[in-house]
Parts: sequence; structure tokens; C-alpha cells
Amino acid sequence: MPHDFMPGLAGVPAARSAVSDVDGQRGVLEYRGIRIEDLSARSTFLETASLLLFGRLPAKLELERFTSDIALHRRIKYRIIDLLKCLPEQGHPMDALQAAVAALGMFYPGRNVQDIDNNYWSAVRLIAKLPTIVAAYARLRRGDDHIPPRDDLNFCENFLYMLTDSVPQKVWSHTLDVCLILHAEHTMNASTFTGMVTGSTLADPYTVVASSIGALKGPLHGGANEAVVHMLREIGTPAQVRPYLKKKLQAKERIMGFGHRVYKVKDPRATILQGLCDRLFRECGASPLYEVALEVERVAAELLRGKGVYPNVDFYSGIIYDKMGIEVEFFTPIFAIARVAGWLAHWFEQLQENKLFRPDQIYEGEHDRPYVPIEKR
Ligand code: SDX
Repeated sequence: MPHDFMPGLAGVPAARSAVSDVDGQRGVLEYRGIRIEDLSARSTFLETASLLLFGRLPAKLELERFTSDIALHRRIKYRIIDLLKCLPEQGHPMDALQAAVAALGMFYPGRNVQDIDNNYWSAVRLIAKLPTIVAAYARLRRGDDHIPPRDDLNFCENFLYMLTDSVPQKVWSHTLDVCLILHAEHTMNASTFTGMVTGSTLADPYTVVASSIGALKGPLHGGANEAVVHMLREIGTPAQVRPYLKKKLQAKERIMGFGHRVYKVKDPRATILQGLCDRLFRECGASPLYEVALEVERVAAELLRGKGVYPNVDFYSGIIYDKMGIEVEFFTPIFAIARVAGWLAHWFEQLQENKLFRPDQIYEGEHDRPYVPIEKR
């Protein structure tokens, strides 16, 4: 039975899922039924990853075991380091991450996705190794040696240590952990859907995650956090916000970090990130970008009134990473370090009753055209 064509599959259910839910009218996001406000205030990224993957909050011993499994798999093969060394220094870190993750699967046997135990270890390796890959490329591309993870540091402390060669202050590692919770999962977004299409062919999880990374990179999706900071720097001061936005909207251009296919109110994650900014900049010093961002939100609310266009998760996240001294090209890789938990949760779920994704199309071409020999064209 033909269905109506919906551009971008807007509003079309592509799966049944219990991993997360978004109420775009009320601005509510739940992971496995738990509100994002509760998780960001009380959980950790690894506890949230376990919740997403296995459907419930882990007991103390389960969390300790999962945390230990992740810690034991942070290191990457020297050949992956060699691969990263061969990549161009000016390459985008999302391309390096995608290349390294696709290669990662070549080092681990038993990619039979019907093996639940093997799938667990694949998920552990991917969650554990993405931060190491991202940090390694950040250092290698500027000519520094990569820094191996330390066993005495937690997930976020290690990422910042491998990136900067110094153990971060608690305020930074905790702030990053909250950011990872906020970016871990978001129902049927483009990168999750991409991974599910790849996973529906029974491809291995490294290939699934590599395909999701490709989708996340785009500026309409995860790449927006990088574009937001470029925009804020281009605006420069709060006084320049109004003329800048007016010019952009008159040119029918999008304001990066604003709008959402599902949220028609402010993204609850943007609200939580703004609270993080307030606390962080009070404790660690103001960010000029934040002052510009606040004015962008105020003026955009006026210029876009009634269109249901509000700040999304990408609007304030980059300002936090910028304050941490992280290069802007590494903002989307940080998004990927978090979202790999959601991608893998959906992959686990779809394998329980997999169906190959193969949608239809509405053909608008011609039929029965003759083959014209080249001398007669
Ligand atoms: C993420 O799906 C997810 O859940 C994604 C995500 C996740 O956690 O996985 O939440 C993460 O990707 C957040 C989105 C990050 N992208 C950006 O910030 C890029 C800027 N945003 C837009 O490109 C846009 O809002 C989208 C792509 C996010 C959603 O666009 P839609 O649903 O395709 O809607 P649309 O582009 O057709 O816009 C509808 C109307 C239009 O007005 P009209 O032309 O009909 O009059 O809203 C306007 C648009 O002009 N609009 C915007 C706007 N976004 C929508 N106007 C100005 N600036 C914007 N950013």
C-alpha cells in the first residue's frame, strides 16, 4: 500500500524503541523513562551508558564491573596510532575518528552480531576507545606524541589528560561528564537512524558506528556545535548580534544551534547546558562568547517569534568546550564520544527483531526510453 512521501521522513516512525523518548511540545527528554534533568544532576556518563545499553540503572557491583571493563579497554593498537599519524595534519577530527573506528573492527575477531557476549565486548571497546582515538589525533596532528590512558583516572579525567598531558581540575572533568550525559542519546536522530540502517544489514558494530559518525559530522546535526562557535566569533560582540541575525534571516540562512525537527520549545538540554555555563563561568571566569550567545538567544526569540525555533543542544555546548581550551574542530568528536552509547543501545535493540531497512520511493523518471547509439546523440 503506497504511503505519502515525507521529506526527511519527518514524523515517520522508523522503529519501535524503549531507549529514549522526546516530547517536543513539552520539551521533555527521558532515557529509559528517566528525565534528563535527573540524570544530568545525579548520574555519570558511564552509569547513563549502562542504563541506555541494558535498560535499567546498574546495581553497584554491575556499575563497578562495567566501569572496570571500560577502563581495561581504553588503549588502542599501535597500528591505529600509525594510521592516525598517516592522516593529514589539517584533516578534520571527525574524518580521522571515522577512519580509525572503521579500522578498529579489523583488529577484533568474531564480528558475528548474533553473539550477545561478543556484542557486549564490541560495545565496551567502542565506548572505551573513542576518547583515546580523539585525544591521540589531537596531539599527533600537531606533532606531539599521543598520551596513553592512565588506570587511576576516570572516564572524563582520562580524556582531558590524554588531550592536555595534565590531570584536569574536578570542575572540568565533572562538567564534561554532564555534557556527555546530555549528548548520549536522542531517539531517532539522523546518526542513530544511519547506524540502524547499517546495522539492519547485520554489518559489524564498528562499521555501524563508523557510519553514524559520518552522519553526525554534518552541520545540520552534530557539526552544529562547531558552527555555533564560528558564528559567535564572527558576530564578535553583543552589539553586533541584531544586524548579524537580521542579515542571516533575510538571506534565508539558518542560525546554527537553533531549531529542531522535534522540539518546538527550547531543548531541555540547552537549558541544562546554560545552567552549566552560568556555574562554570562564575567559578572559572567569564566567556565573551557566552555574552554574545545570550544576546543571540534574546534577539532570535524576537525575530523568530511564533516559528517554534529555539536553542538546541548544540547552542551552548561549544562555549563550554571552548572555555576548557578544546579546539573547535574537536567539539563534534566529543558529541560522538557520548552518542556512541545511544547508537549502540539502538543497535542492541534492533538486533532483537532485526528487519533490513529498505524503504520505497516515488519514481518520477521516464519509462521505455530507447538506447541511442553514441554516433547519433
Ligand atoms: C542536533 O534529531 C535530533 O535529535 C538531533 C539532535 C540529537 O541530539 O541527535 O538533537 C542534535 O542535530 C540538533 C540540531 C543541530 N542543527 C542545527 O542547529 C542547525 C540549524 N538548525 C536547522 O538547520 C534546523 O532547525 C534543523 C535541521 C535542525 C531542523 O530543521 P527541519 O525540521 O528540517 O525544519 P526546516 O529546516 O524545514 O525549518 C522549518 C522552519 C523554516 O521556516 P520556513 O522556511 O518554513 O518559513 O523553521 C525555520 C525554517 O526557516 N528554521 C530556522 C532554523 N531552523 C528552522 N530558521 C532559522 N534558523 C534555524 N536554525
